[in-house]
Amino acid sequence: MLTRVIVLLSVFFVSTSPILAAEANYPALPLGLDRDAYLVPEDNPITPEKVELGKLLYFDKRISMDGTISCASCHHPSKGWADDKPTSLGVDGKTGNRNSPTVINTAFNYVQFWDGRASSLEEQAVGPMANPVEMAHTLEGVEQRIAVIEGYKPYFKAAFGDETVTIDRIAKAIASFERTVLSGNSKWDRHLAGDTAALSDAAKRGLELFEGKANCAQCHNGFNLTDGVFHNLGVGMNKPEPDLGRYEQTRVEKDKGAFKTPTLRDITRTAPYMHDGSQKTLEEVMDLYNKGGEPNAWLDPKMVPLNLTPEEISDIIEFMKSLEGDWRPMEEPRLPE
Ligand code: HEC
Ligand code: HEC
Repeated sequence: MLTRVIVLLSVFFVSTSPILAAEANYPALPLGLDRDAYLVPEDNPITPEKVELGKLLYFDKRISMDGTISCASCHHPSKGWADDKPTSLGVDGKTGNRNSPTVINTAFNYVQFWDGRASSLEEQAVGPMANPVEMAHTLEGVEQRIAVIEGYKPYFKAAFGDETVTIDRIAKAIASFERTVLSGNSKWDRHLAGDTAALSDAAKRGLELFEGKANCAQCHNGFNLTDGVFHNLGVGMNKPEPDLGRYEQTRVEKDKGAFKTPTLRDITRTAPYMHDGSQKTLEEVMDLYNKGGEPNAWLDPKMVPLNLTPEEISDIIEFMKSLEGDWRPMEEPRLPE
C-alpha cells in the first residue's frame, strides 16, 4: 500500500514539475551555478548532437522570412548574448517594444520573456520565428526553408535519428544549445567559494549594501540573482499607453506594469537596461532605485527611496561589475549549405 502511494505521488510529481532528465550529457556548470536548478524537460534530454545542430540554427539567418535575421542578431555572444539597442530590430528594421534579454543562464528560468508568457525554452524558441516584428516567418515556412538545405540533413539525423525537419525538432535543438550558454565563475562566485581576494574593497562594500541598505537582494537573490517573479518598478508607466507586462498574461490587477526580475550576471555587457531599454547606464538604473522607482498605482511595495550616497552607489556598481562571468564570446559557426 505504502509503495503504491509513493508510486502515485511520484507520477504526480513527474507530471507537474520540470524534470531533471538524464544528467550524463549535461554541460559542466561553471562555479556558482546550481545543478539542482538546471531545467531540462524530460522529452528533450541534452545530447551533444542536438546542441551542435541547435548552435547552427541559432546563428542561421535563413530562419527569418527575408534571410536577414537570426537569433544571434538580437542575442549575440559579443553583446552579452543580448543586443545593444533599447528595443530590438527585426526584419525590415521593424522594432518591437521590448529590450532583448540575455540568453545567458536562461536554462535556470522557470518562465521565459519579460512577462513570463513561455514556460520553456522550447516553447520560447518558436515565438520569434513567427513574430511579425522579429523573424516574420510562418512555422511551416521555417520547416520548408531548413528542409531544403542539404547540409542540415546529417545534423538532423545525428540529433533525432532521421532527416525529417519539424518545427518541434528545430525548437528542441535550439533550446538544447541555449542550455549550454552559461555564465558563472565570476569574482562574486569566487568570493562566495572562499577566495577572500576575489572582490575589491569597493565591491565588498557594494555587496553588503546590495543585501542590506539598498534592498536589491529582496528581488535579485539566489545564485542567478533573480527571484523569478514579477515586480512593478514603474519603468515606462508614464507613457500614454504603457506596456502592462505580466498583466497581459494574468489579467490580475496587481500585475499591471510588472516584469520578470532579470538576472544581473554579466549586467555590464547588456546595456541598455529594463524591459523597454529606457535606462542607458547602471548609473541611470541606480538613480531610479535611489528615488524608489517611478510612482504609479501598482508600484511594488518593496520599492522605497534608498537615500544612498554617491559613494554607496558607486560601490553597488562595483559589485555589479564583479558579476561578469569568465566566458569568451563564441565564434559564429560555418553554416550548412
Ligand atoms: C528581432 C530581435 C529578436 C530575435 C530575432 C530573437 N529574439 Fe529572443 N528576444 C527578443 C526580445 C525583444 C525578447 C523579449 C520579448 C518579451 O519579453 O516580450 C526576447 C526574449 C527571448 C528569450 C527569453 C529570455 C528571458 O530571460 O526571458 C529567449 C530565451 C530568447 N529570446 C531566445 C531567442 C531565440 C532562440 C531566437 C531565435 C529563434 C530569438 N530569441 C530571436 C528579441 C529577439
Ligand atoms: C522589487 C524588486 C526589485 C528590487 C528591490 C530591485 N530590483 Fe532590479 N529589477 C527588478 C525588476 C522586476 C527589473 C525589470 C523591471 C522592468 O524592466 O520594468 C529589474 C531590473 C534591474 C536591472 C536591469 C537589468 C536588465 O537586464 O535590464 C538592474 C541593473 C537592476 N535591476 C539592479 C538592481 C539593483 C542594483 C537593486 C538595488 C538597488 C535592485 N535592482 C533592486 C526587480 C527589483
